[in-house]
Amino acid sequence: MKNKKNDIYKTEFLFESDAEKVVLKEASKKIKPKLYKKIVGHSFIISLFILSFFLGVVFQKENEIFKIKANVMSEKAKKEVNEKLNSYSNDLTTIEVKSPNKYEILINKANPIDEEYLSNYEIVDVQDNLFKNVKLEKETYENYLNLKKNLLERGYYINIRSGFRTFDESNNIYFEYMKKRGKSYAESYVAKAGTSEHNAGLAFDFVISSNKNSYKTDYNSDEYFYIENIAYLYGFIIRYSKEKETITGYNYEPWHLRYVGKNLAKYLKKNILTLEEYYEGTIN
Ligand code: DAL
Ligand code: ZN
Repeated sequence: MKNKKNDIYKTEFLFESDAEKVVLKEASKKIKPKLYKKIVGHSFIISLFILSFFLGVVFQKENEIFKIKANVMSEKAKKEVNEKLNSYSNDLTTIEVKSPNKYEILINKANPIDEEYLSNYEIVDVQDNLFKNVKLEKETYENYLNLKKNLLERGYYINIRSGFRTFDESNNIYFEYMKKRGKSYAESYVAKAGTSEHNAGLAFDFVISSNKNSYKTDYNSDEYFYIENIAYLYGFIIRYSKEKETITGYNYEPWHLRYVGKNLAKYLKKNILTLEEYYEGTIN
């Protein structure tokens, strides 16, 4: 009986124990997937983090390499363009103008100006200018002042960054550019002594802005659009235009105005001609 009882107890015990085991097993089944899921979940997040970090590093490297390659390519492309422009300017024609008008004069690589001829131009100081020690040829300056007045009436301010240059100054600028940016760059932007319109004081590099004290030009601004379209009324032309780089042999210089007198400026503007085309009698 006792045994039986014991057995029962045992059975009950066993039963309870089994039941516990079952409960525990069931419970652990429920817990295990949770733990498992947690571990998997965490590992997934960590792996994602590591992966994104790696991808970030790789992407940044690739991006840097791409930028370097793009820079090298664009430097190379620019150099090629400049070399092409230089070859055009080396092929310019020398033109004999019978009785040259001193304001209509053609000055370029093939048509340099004589240092003695420069005595024909009276050079004067530019007043009330943001940049100091600037000089211009006298008639050029008078017309510049009228242009400046017109601009002021519209709230636009023009200042001259560089006007008349001596031969030495032209050469210094050229060699400085060459040292900093290389020969092909220098040649496509700067004319050496005797081949620059700045040497006669007939050309100047300007800045224009609706801000009185600005040293910069926004070439997409209303003020630039305005001056580009009315400069000819005062005898000026944008000498190195974007469309005529292969003819002038120089890069587009929106800042460089050249005085040629009102009649010629009007003619060139109307017929969209460079001085080279005008003298060669060819229209591109
Ligand atoms: N920038 C023009 C070409 C000059 O130096 O005269
Ligand atoms: Zn210039």
